[in-house]
Amino acid sequence: MSDQPHTARIVLLPGDGIGPEVTQAAVQALDAVARRCGRQFHFEERLMGGCAIDRHGTPITDETLQACLAADAVLLGAVGGPQWDDPLAPVRPEGGLLRLRKALGVFANLRPVRLHPSLLDASPLRPERLEGVDLLVVRELTGGLYFGEPKTHEVRDGRRYAVDTMAYFDYEVRRVVELAFRLALGRRKKLASVDKANVLESSRLWRQVALETARDFPQVALEHVLVDTAAMRLVTRPSAFDVIVTENTFGDILTDEAAVLCGSMGLLPSASLGDGGPGLYEPVHGSAPDIAGQGIANPLGAILSAALLLRYSLRLEEEAWLVEQAVWGALASGARTRDLGGTLSTHEMTRAVLERL
Ligand code: NAD
Ligand code: IPM
Ligand code: MN
Repeated sequence: MSDQPHTARIVLLPGDGIGPEVTQAAVQALDAVARRCGRQFHFEERLMGGCAIDRHGTPITDETLQACLAADAVLLGAVGGPQWDDPLAPVRPEGGLLRLRKALGVFANLRPVRLHPSLLDASPLRPERLEGVDLLVVRELTGGLYFGEPKTHEVRDGRRYAVDTMAYFDYEVRRVVELAFRLALGRRKKLASVDKANVLESSRLWRQVALETARDFPQVALEHVLVDTAAMRLVTRPSAFDVIVTENTFGDILTDEAAVLCGSMGLLPSASLGDGGPGLYEPVHGSAPDIAGQGIANPLGAILSAALLLRYSLRLEEEAWLVEQAVWGALASGARTRDLGGTLSTHEMTRAVLERL
């Protein structure tokens, strides 16, 4: 998109649980920054997840998928919840999200983890371990264990039997590792490629491709870290990480762990990008059924996801920066939702951000 875009078209998929609560906050932040900077955004809201199963019998309809493909960007809240969790259910809310990611071709999921200094005490980790935490996890998003074939659940020789497959083509590894190298170039020039190459064939391919790709990025220091060690180092020496690139499932697990570093799941944003085409933006957290409907969810992960949408899909760096500064300012002033040990509602926390826009 150019610097003077047409009215940007954003599809909203609020989803389930706290999804609608935090998406509304993100839309308010987008509206506020649009007013301030004279931009125009057009929002189109659609059902995805459990709510779409209840209405249409499928977590994402073809029409919604087409609308997402035709948009400039897609902003998602969260999907899922206990009412759709029956392991025997023929369709699942999460299936809609996976189908959407695959259809958009968003193979790289960027999950920045930056610790606000005033939140040092919000994490269960000792403050001295947390100083300087500023890392970016690049999670492969359209391959690996989530999508590999075969994927079955059947009866074999009279026993129930299930299979998932961790599979990668070299090009699937290369494109995400390459992006991670490029992102590292703009940061502290350190890349940790996380795998399980001591056991898994797919990880040995991953490691070879990472080594091949490294030849094009001599300025970046590449290290290979086994995923179990990476999990440990995330809590023992988190500030030593700059950019991490890893397989889909490994990235899913490591980023929930990394969320603990900055005090709450509710703070982490994400951007899912492919080769052109609309990006998908969603907080890292889920639908939080335990607090849904109470108006107490932390909206900052969703608001920061909207900032990433401004940056990566709309190329509005100034606007993205303004939103991030507003979040940062709200935190610096002591504004806290309950997950961060405060008392503010979703609405009040959102207002603390909007006041700074
Ligand atoms: P979760 O992330 O929803 O919740 C984990 C814990 O973090 C809960 O205690 C919750 O209250 C808290 N939490 C999460 N977000 C918060 C916020 N914004 N503010 C305050 N507290 C917050 O994970 P879960 O409970 O394991 O999963 C619930 C459902 O969400 C499942 O159905 C899962 O599949 C789904 N899920 C969806 C997405 C997504 O749509 N992108 C991501 C993760 C999980
Ligand atoms: C996430 C979520 C999703 C994932 C689920 C809801 C499919 O946990 O975005 O981290 O596993 O990718
Ligand atoms: Mn997850």
